Amino acid sequence: MGIEKLILSNASGGVNPKYKVGDLMILDDHINLMGTNPLIGKNEEELGTRFPDMGEPYDKGMIAKAKAVADKNDFTCHIGTYAAVTGPTFETRAEYRYIKIIGADCVGMSTVPENIIARHMNLPVFAISIITDLGGGDHLEVITHEEVLKVANEAEKKNDSYYQRTYY
Ligand code: HPA
Repeated sequence: MGIEKLILSNASGGVNPKYKVGDLMILDDHINLMGTNPLIGKNEEELGTRFPDMGEPYDKGMIAKAKAVADKNDFTCHIGTYAAVTGPTFETRAEYRYIKIIGADCVGMSTVPENIIARHMNLPVFAISIITDLGGGDHLEVITHEEVLKVANEAEKKNDSYYQRTYY
């Protein structure tokens, strides 16, 4: 389609104990726990190689730029690792614990397949996550889709005022 960069956003559950509901996290890596990979099957050689490198799944340049803009505007914006699961269930307490132990900072149900497809064709990717709920540790609140949407919508408003204050 001729695009030169892919920008993705998602909602996720924070497992890093420093994260709070409403924080943003720029993805600099991910763990694919979806049990599948969108490149399984015949490789489209004209798009990319059979065994793509995944050493820089998210573009370092775009991460640095976004972090600088967030810092300038006093936005709480972490940089971390996103674990992708299929859902549609939210995680059990043991699963949140496991996701934290294996090195993720948050968990969600998207973004990784899109990232893999884009990186296969060497397209730079930027992705950012809104932490809509907290899993693991002492966070025993019931998580609902409604709550996830509510926090995500509030974050969108925050983003609007942020764009009004930032000059490019
Ligand atoms: N787990 C998985 N996906 C999610 C979550 C979560 O806690 N929050 C928003 N999407």
